[in-house]
Amino acid sequence: MITSSFQASVAVLALVTLHVSALDTFIAAVYEHAVLRPKGTETPVSRDDALLLMNKNIDILEKAIKQAAEQGAQIIVTPEDALYGWKFTRETIFPYLEDIPDPQVDWIPCQDPQRFGHTPIQTRLSCLAKNNSIYVLANIGDKKRCNSQDSTCPPNGYYQYNTNVVYDAKGQLVARYHKYHLYSEPQFDVPEKPELVTFNTTFGRFGIFTCFDILFHDPAVSLVKDFHVDTILYPTAWMNVLPLLSAIEFHSAWAMGMRVNLLAANIHHVQQNMTGSGIYAPHSPRVYHYDMETDSGRLLLSEVDSRPRTSPAYPTAVDWSAYATTIKPFPVQKNTFSGFISRDAFNFTALFENAGNLTVCHKDLCCHLSYRMLRKEENEVYVLGAFTGLHGRRRREYWQVCTMLKCKTTDLTTCGQPVETALTRFDIFSLSGTFRTEYVFPEVLLTKVHLSPGKFEV
Ligand SMILES: *[C@@H]1O[C@H](CO)[C@@H](O)[C@H](O)[C@H]1NC(C)=O
Ligand SMILES: *[C@@H]1O[C@H](CO)[C@@H](O)[C@H](O)[C@H]1NC(C)=O
Ligand SMILES: *[C@@H]1O[C@H](CO)[C@@H](O)[C@H](O)[C@H]1NC(C)=O
Ligand SMILES: *[C@@H]1O[C@H](CO)[C@@H](O)[C@H](O)[C@H]1NC(C)=O
Ligand SMILES: *[C@@H]1O[C@H](CO)[C@@H](O)[C@H](O)[C@H]1NC(C)=O
Repeated sequence: MITSSFQASVAVLALVTLHVSALDTFIAAVYEHAVLRPKGTETPVSRDDALLLMNKNIDILEKAIKQAAEQGAQIIVTPEDALYGWKFTRETIFPYLEDIPDPQVDWIPCQDPQRFGHTPIQTRLSCLAKNNSIYVLANIGDKKRCNSQDSTCPPNGYYQYNTNVVYDAKGQLVARYHKYHLYSEPQFDVPEKPELVTFNTTFGRFGIFTCFDILFHDPAVSLVKDFHVDTILYPTAWMNVLPLLSAIEFHSAWAMGMRVNLLAANIHHVQQNMTGSGIYAPHSPRVYHYDMETDSGRLLLSEVDSRPRTSPAYPTAVDWSAYATTIKPFPVQKNTFSGFISRDAFNFTALFENAGNLTVCHKDLCCHLSYRMLRKEENEVYVLGAFTGLHGRRRREYWQVCTMLKCKTTDLTTCGQPVETALTRFDIFSLSGTFRTEYVFPEVLLTKVHLSPGKFEV
């Protein structure tokens, strides 16, 4: 014990000496953008029309970037697909793409716009970063020529990638990341292997991934576990799906579960349930935005720790399975019934009393709940649910879920359907599970799709 605390203080001392100008905290910004999309995407537009649309979107992003910089932000994240939208074929996305070089070439597009051919979008983004002295993350499309003799080379002779670029405060390209886990994106190719992209600043070490990547181990978990990044930059075009996968709900839980800062910038497009951005710290969400009422974008700013691991507020690691196995399982309920959340068949049991201890199991996963309600609404039914298995229609991710949720109506067959409001007040509840993974993401979503910063702990 004495040895380890002695070593810890030496490490902190060394850090202070090495980074004289290092910042303890920084101001982060994310922008939820109501993207202007092309009218139709069935036939290809000209390069000029593509540039016109992308520049209109950048005009809006420019205002947000300037505003963020004026308020002292060191870095701003803009959403996935923010320059052109998301519905394309390989042919119709092509006019929007630019060849994006490896950051190792040391390039400031704003100062040297001709160096890699026709790259007006990269030049403008670099100038925005440089002129406003702020790091800028943008999501754009990369094209890479390939040899059409190669069996993997697409017929048009180009690989096409969904790509994040980061320019530093001098306008230099410092990071490029090609999205690995594509969702429904026939316009883009999957890179050969997941890329682990990090970069260092005076305000901590950063890692990058995009949208659907967050549900997989690589690169998301590796960046935190093996590369020890302090902050993840996370552009997304996320469609909210209740009860378990609303953007603010899952993204805040991921930051807590992984104990890392997460700067999440979502598209704003309420017709497709796309809203929900935030700045999430390891112990609690700092600021978030969810808006199904208006059509406007929104800038969010918050001060966060540059190196959360060295902060006194840093949450200690939780050994999830150890905890759940030490508590004596409550008698397994006899009135367990089967029900669905999306396509996943859960085992549910209802919370009939105003207080109690319940266990429900699904295969080898057992979920324990202790709860006390202050006031139970007559027409509201809550259930405890457990699920272990491959998730959803695509069945690509293996999930273990313990959840307590409100059923849509008092009819138990509606349990697991999307619900947005609730009136029952809980005094306390404690939920745990015998998870077989160390990656557990603790979600809490309150009525009207609200988070509860500071109100619960792991
Ligand atoms: C950046 O500033 C220069 C002059 O300092 C100006 O010519 C240029 O238009 C600006 N670019 C952007 C993208 O703001
Ligand atoms: C960042 O700094 C760490 C050491 O502090 C180093 O290991 C790493 O290679 C640096 N570069 C990147 C790109 O993360
Ligand atoms: C948006 O969410 C609501 C309720 O959660 C759902 O009924 C609706 O089908 C969703 N819309 C789309 C376009 O997915
Ligand atoms: C739940 O269990 C705890 C101990 O684990 C006990 O103190 C409490 O009385 C129980 N509550 C109910 C309502 O059974
Ligand atoms: C669901 O719960 C019941 C009752 O405890 C149990 O018999 C059944 O095996 C469970 N289903 C699965 C798939 O584990």
